[in-house]
Amino acid sequence: MKLFDVYPRYDVTPVRAEDVYVFDSQGKRYLDLYGGHAVISIGHSHPHYVASLQDQLSNLGFYSNAVQNPLQQRLADEIGAQSCLNDYQLFLCSSGAEAIENALKMASFHTGKKRVIAFNHAFHGRTSAAVAATDNKKITAPLNQQQAVCFLPFNDLNKLEHELQKGDVCAVIFEPIQGVGGLDQPSGAFILGMEKLCLQYGACLIADEVQSGFARSGTFFAFQNTQIRPHIITMAKGMGNGFPVGGILIHPDLKASYGLLGTTFGGNHMACRAALAVLDVLKNENLQRHALKMEIYFRKQAQKFSDVTVKGRGLMLGLAFDFEVGPLRKSLIEKHHIFTGGSSNKNVLRILPPLTIQTHHLDQFFTALNESL
Ligand SMILES: Cc1ncc(COP(=O)(O)O)c(C=O)c1O
Repeated sequence: MKLFDVYPRYDVTPVRAEDVYVFDSQGKRYLDLYGGHAVISIGHSHPHYVASLQDQLSNLGFYSNAVQNPLQQRLADEIGAQSCLNDYQLFLCSSGAEAIENALKMASFHTGKKRVIAFNHAFHGRTSAAVAATDNKKITAPLNQQQAVCFLPFNDLNKLEHELQKGDVCAVIFEPIQGVGGLDQPSGAFILGMEKLCLQYGACLIADEVQSGFARSGTFFAFQNTQIRPHIITMAKGMGNGFPVGGILIHPDLKASYGLLGTTFGGNHMACRAALAVLDVLKNENLQRHALKMEIYFRKQAQKFSDVTVKGRGLMLGLAFDFEVGPLRKSLIEKHHIFTGGSSNKNVLRILPPLTIQTHHLDQFFTALNESL
């Protein structure tokens, strides 16, 4: 049987990984500044993570949401403690798009409305409502066009109010730091304004933290450099360090009822242990703070290059050049054995390493960059 060929792939076959390094089938070592698309948060094969998953698998790999699973409450308590959002409610699922889908659905249930406001260059995933709120026509099928979504620019409160005034909007969804879109961020004033307008016009504000959450930006969630309390927060990627787990945090004003949301795999025992192990390591190794320190170092080194702008926050960073970075990424991987990320803005090279990265790894990157330019 042939694979359905949808991924353009580099000619590298990883077979093993450790902390910030990935090893291919020929034993070649690659520095991972891509983290498998912002997924690897605590480093590859972290011993505590491996031991937790091995222990769980040897006891109980899976049971469904028809029975008690105390690991889910442990996970809710730990996310509440680390994010300081103890009064929110946790619903677990298995991927980023699924988190978005559930977030939009909750917003629609809560408000009784169905139109969504998203932003230019947004990426929220590939399932039905998520892809409709994604600003990329190429991945939106005719089926998905049934969803009513309006795209606006960041930082224009007048345009936002004009749409909200129509009274049919269930959700305003935004990435505090755009991932696929190329690391653009709404201003703090705009974020505060969005919250105020959503409250005024009865719409839910959804912070998509699928990529920026779980300490990557230097705060637990990237929106937390402002004082807002979104109705719903989505998370996935770094939450499981590679184990498929996602979830939404739901404001206490939104009420649960049996059957409102549901999933077979979401919140299973392995997924909970993976996320709990990630949270243990984030706390024990102080990785949120470390992400900020590494950002400062990264920015300092990047200053030595003219015509390069650093975008993003913490270890969700981008380098914006005045040329398309495709060939540069290829050279970094093939000649220097360094993985980096691209973006829908073709001039932006994305840097999404494990949060355990150290200054000498960044030095290795900047030396390679210097030689490649
Ligand atoms: C901000 C954001 N939201 C949602 C998603 C969708 O996540 P997934 O690929 O796990 O479905 C992504 C994936 O890149 C993302 O970056």
